[in-house]
Amino acid sequence: MKAIAVTPAAKQINVINQAEPNLSSPTDVKLRMIEAGVCGTDREICAFEYGTPPVGMEHLVIGHESLGEVVEIGAKVTRVKVGDLVVPMVRRPCPHDHCTACRSSRQDFCFTGDFTERGIKEQHGFMAQFIVDDEKYMNPVPADMRDVAVLVEPLTIAEKGLAQVWNIQQRLPWGCPIVPGRAQAHCHKAVVLGAGPVGLLGAMALVNADFDTYVYAREPAPNPKAAVLELIGAKYLSAQTHSLEAFAADVGNIDLVYEATGASRLAFDMIQHLGINGIFIFTGVPGRKAPVQVDTDLMMRNLVLKNQVVFGTVNAGRETFEASIRDLQIFKNSWPQAVKSLITGRFPVEAHRDLLVGKSAGIKNVIQLN
Ligand code: BGC
Repeated sequence: MKAIAVTPAAKQINVINQAEPNLSSPTDVKLRMIEAGVCGTDREICAFEYGTPPVGMEHLVIGHESLGEVVEIGAKVTRVKVGDLVVPMVRRPCPHDHCTACRSSRQDFCFTGDFTERGIKEQHGFMAQFIVDDEKYMNPVPADMRDVAVLVEPLTIAEKGLAQVWNIQQRLPWGCPIVPGRAQAHCHKAVVLGAGPVGLLGAMALVNADFDTYVYAREPAPNPKAAVLELIGAKYLSAQTHSLEAFAADVGNIDLVYEATGASRLAFDMIQHLGINGIFIFTGVPGRKAPVQVDTDLMMRNLVLKNQVVFGTVNAGRETFEASIRDLQIFKNSWPQAVKSLITGRFPVEAHRDLLVGKSAGIKNVIQLN
């Protein structure tokens, strides 16, 4: 079968031929991969800045945002059946008994760092024609979500972030008055930094929770990303027309910031505008550049005097994948055109090089694997 792989030691990216994987336990499931999304992490792996092949191997099959169809199941599989569409999870637990997170199937909070990640860290990924894994990592999706389900994994980032927001804000009376027809955050304001797929899916999750949602990004409007935001009722403001100060003043008290750019300078400038009792979520992984100056006194004063919380979030567990599938279905029903237009291109395996190392274009590009 064909697979897309990097060989970091030789700085190569190739379509390789390797044997189809076989079931090796009664709870294994074999998937025929339908498609895989290309994200910033894949592009970093292809720039050889990130990513580790499996122990003893030179190459790593990449890909972690995916959709597959079940073609074979082991004798003891109960969660999926042949013909089901599934989105597999990315991270696999570390082996250590003392890692309470991994032992509780919450490897997204692994304490030891010895987890593996399919397509990223020490395990082959999903840009292959077939994959095999245990049923516990499989998340079934309804058949009518086939055209958008490849967005489930990138949406898990916002879903995990929001689940933590609801938990954290139980620390104070933060709930909005119950208003028929409105969702739980209708009295709060949220800012999204960045209008890539993570930012746009994050904005959908925030609007769906009824936050008054503002997105701050580079490109001037009109542009396709601003058009998606208009369809969902979020406001788009460009850094080319609004300074961060002007933008923050426009919003008012900022209850939540969802950072989705990986640009640390912008993020730390934004923290200074976080509102009273506000929460700031970091999701980006910046490259290592030269240090920049930040006003630590101002930031610390605000954190204390305004009861603020700043947290980072990575990866996702099973519950988060399930929430993501449910919400993507809701988004698709509420804003069919907006969700559809997040996927800007579907390409054959042969086009992988342009997508992985060429100039990044469009919103979410997808590689068709079968
Ligand atoms: C993936 C996560 C992964 C993270 C760090 C992201 O692109 O979506 O599953 O944990 O990279 O490797």
